[in-house]
Amino acid sequence: MPLLAIHDLEVDFRLNDRWVRVVDGVSLEIATGETLCLVGESGCGKSVTALSIGRLLPEPPARYSAGRIEVEGRDVLKMDGKGLRSVRGGVVSYIFQEPGAALNPVHRVGAQIREVLKIHRPEKATDAEILRLLTEVGIPDPAERIRCYPHELSGGMQQRVMIAMAIATEPKLLIADEPTTALDVTIQAQILDLLLDLKHRLGMAMLLITHNLGLVGGLADRVAVMYAGQIVETAPAHALLRHPRHPYTRALIQSVPELGHPRERLLAIPGTVPTPGDWPEGCRFAPRCPKVRESCHRAAPLLDRLPDGRQVRCPFPNP
Ligand SMILES: Nc1ncnc2c1ncn2[C@@H]1O[C@H](COP(=O)(O)OP(=O)(O)OP(=O)(O)O)[C@@H](O)[C@H]1O
Ligand SMILES: [Mg+2]
Repeated sequence: MPLLAIHDLEVDFRLNDRWVRVVDGVSLEIATGETLCLVGESGCGKSVTALSIGRLLPEPPARYSAGRIEVEGRDVLKMDGKGLRSVRGGVVSYIFQEPGAALNPVHRVGAQIREVLKIHRPEKATDAEILRLLTEVGIPDPAERIRCYPHELSGGMQQRVMIAMAIATEPKLLIADEPTTALDVTIQAQILDLLLDLKHRLGMAMLLITHNLGLVGGLADRVAVMYAGQIVETAPAHALLRHPRHPYTRALIQSVPELGHPRERLLAIPGTVPTPGDWPEGCRFAPRCPKVRESCHRAAPLLDRLPDGRQVRCPFPNP
């Protein structure tokens, strides 16, 4: 049994008196200890998918209209409050883009970590454990930092505190939604190194969300590419980077300077992601696809499993 199995998830939002689908039939699995990267341009539905795992979207405006989200075999969408609390901050922990916004400005960081421990592992709500966690996430002089307020720490240190809070509950799955986007480039690399190190030491599975495919190679075991509310390709990370099969995956890779072939011109993908409620008929990527054919505008492609095991939502994948 996979740690996480999402089956045919559909999520809608209430907008101007009608329901608009934003996640449309997403299926994903994450095995124990595995790192899955979810990539795609802004607005594709990555965060909505991730927040659904802990059933964290406010309902309304959100509505889970179909599908199952099984965490260790139990469907999150059918759980009562007690079940959900055992998932959120228990089996599953989150870190987000803006550590400054997620920390409480009026409490010392040590006290904030202690609160998390009190709820989830009360026997461990001690200074010794807080110091151990701060050390674990690479915070220098933890005995001093434990008494700091969030604003006394840099963005990178704040994100380390958030990671300490996230791992305090000993999660089996860490969901990191753009965890480095708000940080300086050099700090980004350090935080990613920390996540990789923790994943190996603690054996956690990770769902890492990013729109930067440049980060994927060193971190992910597998990658799922999302476009307009759907998964369009999943594959082992190295196979996907070396040999993208879906034209959208390929375009994404070519738009990353370090990954694009040096002799090919680097281009941003022309056009924009269609907004929910405005998805074209047929293939949703067709209006932007360099390999589009007439039939692509009519028939909506299914997510096919290719002989090499990967899944691609395109009837004419790159060879
Ligand atoms: N609370 C909300 N109310 C209405 N629509 C929403 C809400 N949250 C998200 N959406 C819409 O759902 C779609 C998917 O949003 P989501 O945040 O999942 O995108 P994303 O892939 O995470 O993008 P980004 O890379 O910018 O974070 C978007 O069109 C967004 O406008
Ligand atoms: Mg997002």
